[in-house]
Amino acid sequence: MLTFFLGCKKEEISKCDDNIGLFTFSSYPIGTAIDFNALESDPVYKSIAIKQFNSITPENIFKAQYIHPEPLLFNWTEADRLASFCQNNNKRLHGHTLIWHQQLPQWILDYQGSPFDWELLMKVHIQTVMTHFKNKVTAWDIVNEAFNEDGTLRNSIWKQKIGDGYIEKAFLFAREADPSALLFYNDFNLESNTTKLNSVLSFLNNLRNRGVRIDGIGIQMHISTYYPEPTQIANTFQKIATQNYKIHVSELDISVNPLGKDFVPSEELFNEQANLLGSLVLNYNQIPKQFQHGITFWGISDKNSWIRDFYNREDYPLLYDDNYLPKPCYCKLIKTL
Ligand code: XIL
Repeated sequence: MLTFFLGCKKEEISKCDDNIGLFTFSSYPIGTAIDFNALESDPVYKSIAIKQFNSITPENIFKAQYIHPEPLLFNWTEADRLASFCQNNNKRLHGHTLIWHQQLPQWILDYQGSPFDWELLMKVHIQTVMTHFKNKVTAWDIVNEAFNEDGTLRNSIWKQKIGDGYIEKAFLFAREADPSALLFYNDFNLESNTTKLNSVLSFLNNLRNRGVRIDGIGIQMHISTYYPEPTQIANTFQKIATQNYKIHVSELDISVNPLGKDFVPSEELFNEQANLLGSLVLNYNQIPKQFQHGITFWGISDKNSWIRDFYNREDYPLLYDDNYLPKPCYCKLIKTL
């Protein structure tokens, strides 16, 4: 793994003062996913989270596996601690995620019941969690990753048990539980796959025509220095905003080694990473203000990134290096916000 520092140039770094938050440069929220264990055990991680970001997405602890481990048991301990952290430090809390096919507890995977029983299970899950965090969570990813790459609906456990109507029902239950929260649909590859983006938009527009309120779309943006082109990103922002959805760049990271090859990090690659981030931000700045929900990075330092564990590859996708030193993309971000 990378042990040397390929950071911002000294003359650029004057603004990278620890006491200046990234969000102070920005007219929209700048967020990070929070790994709860790192927040509690690593003081450097915690101080960067406090100083640099003003929106927080829980990376794991709000997922059903953690928050709803047994049918009649909700585990609020860690989630409540994170909510207090956000309140005490004046951070927006973005809830992630209620209905997803992954990170489900075993009892849901094993659950036997009629479509109506499953609908009730989904309702209880959504409404208990949202009611618990009323006035603490501003916005929620209600449904996550419901589409395939070819634009069809993913055959998730929710679709299998409840039918195609589960997405509509999830949004209706959510709206009932907290009418003032912003409700998002969240997915990946929307910036690079127009078939998928078009399907998501026409599906959500159809729900809206039926009176379902959907406030925004989360574009995860697990992207790389190779793909997509900045123009694809610009077109996606345009297309979503013109259809009146708020846009959350919800899980941003920029891989420099997407194919998991033997890898030599170079200054050139980190500059490419910075340039892609810069053009993404400039394009995001063009979105009308009322549609800018914010840009959230999926972690703080390369050493905390999910990509290394999940894909088991060497990678450096975030703003800070393994020693918590800001990388060129950090300086680019400050310049472009
Ligand atoms: C990831 C977390 O970062 C990992 O720690 C966990 O092991 C798996 O999930 N899309 C999502 C996120 O919506 O919730 C995922 O987060 C990354 C992909």
